[in-house]
Amino acid sequence: MISKGGRKYHIKGCAGQGGFAQVYKAFVNSDPNDVVALKIQKPAFPWEFYMYRQLDMRITGRERSSYGLAQRIHLYADCSILICDYLAHGTLQDVINRYAVQGKPMEEVLCIYYTIEMLHMVETLHDVGLIHGDFKPDNLLIRYARDDLTKKGSWTEVVLGVIRSLPCRLGKRDCSGSLSR
Ligand SMILES: Nc1ncnc2c1ncn2[C@@H]1O[C@H](COP(=O)(O)OP(=O)(O)OP(=O)(O)O)[C@@H](O)[C@H]1O
Ligand SMILES: [Mg+2]
Repeated sequence: MISKGGRKYHIKGCAGQGGFAQVYKAFVNSDPNDVVALKIQKPAFPWEFYMYRQLDMRITGRERSSYGLAQRIHLYADCSILICDYLAHGTLQDVINRYAVQGKPMEEVLCIYYTIEMLHMVETLHDVGLIHGDFKPDNLLIRYARDDLTKKGSWTEVVLGVIRSLPCRLGKRDCSGSLSR
């Protein structure tokens, strides 16, 4: 367990590992309904948190839920701990690997669905002047729209959606938020 910023994080296991970070799943204050991902990076990398806040400002409404949410960051001289909402369904790379292990191809309709999702996400980012810079299956987390399952009923609303891990670069918009094209 670690205590940071008035909260206690009970580490429940490893959520994943990337080239630069170790990511842990944790309960906040022992609450199993409040699950976060702790992304620990050495050296510290505040840029990612800044980009999440840019997403908050630039992408509004329903579109915003297609991108990850960062709650806070703890910054130290030699490392940073980024606290994000935990997504339990793995990455698009995990899905691809599961098909590969079974020796069968992903259904064409699912390929088309994910492709449309990804193109829409990239288009939305570019529309608000952001460039991801590392858009690939292991940086795309699966988002399961559980609420939509009960409320809507159309299959396009219930199939897994894709959300990204982090956008890396600012595009044409400057830091003050004005868009110059
Ligand atoms: N919010 C999250 N919820 C659940 N799992 C996560 C979350 N964020 C990351 N992961 C897992 O941790 C892995 C590594 O995370 P991430 O891709 O952010 O780190 P990285 O590859 O080191 O850095 P980057 O992609 O920024 O270069 C992901 O592939 C995923 O499996
Ligand atoms: Mg990654």
